[in-house]
Amino acid sequence: MKISKSAPSNIALIKYMGKVDGLGNKPANASVSYTLEHLRTHVEIERISSANGRDQWQPLQIEGAFPLALKPTGQEKFLNHFGRLKEKWGIKDTYLIKSANNFPSDCGLASSASSFAALTWGAAELFQKTAPQNWGDDLTELSRLSRQGSGSSCRSFFSPWALWRDQGAEPLKFSLRLHHAVIILEKDVKAVSSSEAHKRVLTSPRFQGRIKRAEEKLEVLLSAISQERWKEAHEVIWDEFWDMHELFHTSQSPFRYMTSECREILSWMEKKWKQEKHGPWITLDAGPNIHLLFHNEDLAFAQKYLTEFNRHNVITSWGSP
Ligand code: PMV
Repeated sequence: MKISKSAPSNIALIKYMGKVDGLGNKPANASVSYTLEHLRTHVEIERISSANGRDQWQPLQIEGAFPLALKPTGQEKFLNHFGRLKEKWGIKDTYLIKSANNFPSDCGLASSASSFAALTWGAAELFQKTAPQNWGDDLTELSRLSRQGSGSSCRSFFSPWALWRDQGAEPLKFSLRLHHAVIILEKDVKAVSSSEAHKRVLTSPRFQGRIKRAEEKLEVLLSAISQERWKEAHEVIWDEFWDMHELFHTSQSPFRYMTSECREILSWMEKKWKQEKHGPWITLDAGPNIHLLFHNEDLAFAQKYLTEFNRHNVITSWGSP
């Protein structure tokens, strides 16, 4: 018995950074994201017979996928999550899980969001075949389960907009649609994982007040998005990614994802916004790669904007940049 499933990544505009003590990835603050349907993790889950009864992971070979070399700790986290799902649904068999991303992993493109969403969704669909009573197509429940593996994955079940308050993620009914592009400045695996980042930010003096700042920005942003006040939303989103990165830079063991090239490009973008009083929404995840979101009706502008980055590897939601 075998299943194939894929799930999208998402980019947070108000970030989940810092957890409340305890199990289950409880966020310190609410976050909001846009789902990136074109950046996906594919999983294949197959029942196997294995002498030691242990589930296994292998990279999936599919066309267009980037080679995925999950480190032992990454594999363990992934398989532990699968184990939790099996336990929850009373599944005793052993499985081989293969996975691949159609984009570079672990460098700030939120691959853990798509990976854990695909694994949870795939497992649920597979186990439904063996134990139909255990599975509903209740995305809220799947999102809740997925969150236990990776917090940000809980938002990938809702598209295109998702809001995650502490109770769980939910869809947001905004009519605004966006084009996404990401300028890849670094595709090597990042030195500090986001799990580690969640811990270290708690030691930053700037974490004092972070929850209040994030909650205030969230309210302003939700209102700006719903009424399509583009520039105001840009200002909040810009401020927010800097806020998160400043937490990294000021934690007790400081760390940095921003490279000098990244900072130069950000300065150029800031200047351009000021000159033209228009531009894309700009954000960084836990990595140096620069995410741009353009208004759905701004495709020609987006294409022109990206000609500045011809020398870089750019992935876009509309195909070739
Ligand atoms: O899901 P995690 O534990 O990998 O958290 C990642 C959180 C960020 O991607 C850095 C921000 C976010 O809200 O997605």
